[in-house]
Amino acid sequence: MSEIVYLNGEFMPLEKARIPVLDRGFIFGDGVYEVIPVYSRHPFRLPEHLVRLQGSLDAIRLANPLTDAEWTRLIHDLVARHPGDDQSIYLQVTRGVAKRDHAFPRDVKQTVFMMSSPLVTPVQDLIDNGVRCITAVDYRWLKCNVKSVSLLGNCLLRQSAADAGAIEVVLFRDGYLTEASASNVFVIKGGKLLSPPKNHLILPGITYDVVLELAAACGIPVELRAVSEQEVRNADEIWVTSSTKEVLAVVTLDEKAVGSGKPGSLFKVIHSAFQEFKRKVMRAAA
Ligand SMILES: Cc1ncc(COP(=O)(O)O)c(C=O)c1O
Repeated sequence: MSEIVYLNGEFMPLEKARIPVLDRGFIFGDGVYEVIPVYSRHPFRLPEHLVRLQGSLDAIRLANPLTDAEWTRLIHDLVARHPGDDQSIYLQVTRGVAKRDHAFPRDVKQTVFMMSSPLVTPVQDLIDNGVRCITAVDYRWLKCNVKSVSLLGNCLLRQSAADAGAIEVVLFRDGYLTEASASNVFVIKGGKLLSPPKNHLILPGITYDVVLELAAACGIPVELRAVSEQEVRNADEIWVTSSTKEVLAVVTLDEKAVGSGKPGSLFKVIHSAFQEFKRKVMRAAA
């Protein structure tokens, strides 16, 4: 079965999907995207993803080409055209095709693209034994809250982690934690959960919100505030979160053990709460 994608109003086989070379997504990285996990054929936190999409579009002054009801219908349609129960939906909106000029074109239709891949969540070994991370200076732009397709900074940083055999790179700007190249970051110190608040320096992760809700439900005290590099390096636990990683414990940071060097006790609490929460949401949707 050939993979079916959605492009500008039509479902078609992936190999038939074509974008003109003057698309501003190609020329300028002028567009935004979302990645939505699908569990048991149910898109997880879809309304929240659509709110974030609207925020990204507003930030780049691009009109939303579809209503939330249209997005929802198309996403369910795309899911139904793929065999797996667990999928990862990627959607992208660009400012469309126009003569190359930095300033925005007038009266140009947005390009809308969506595809589905099998959802690959972390293997048990990564959950049980944790992951390695390195650190770097966060040299990305000052609109990291926008889920922009211009991901060169993130790609360069993520490759530095891959080169070091690490899963992620934890980023510091002016001596304070921001996030990682494709994840949010949480720290446990003295039984408290610390993370930077949502602002222009981090992507407002959908998983970040879920983790905060679960921490509150599990009675873990939370402080959303600037977290210094020193606090991260002396943390009892560090977690990275994203739609595909879910929650993972960082056991070495720049080759130095984090806490005991094993996934910590609060990680285990939140990880199992996350799995239980997913099951509950899926049961409710079934
Ligand atoms: C830079 C960055 N931060 C955080 C996240 C986590 O966001 P979410 O939990 O919505 O996947 C991502 C996800 O891709 C990301 O790219």
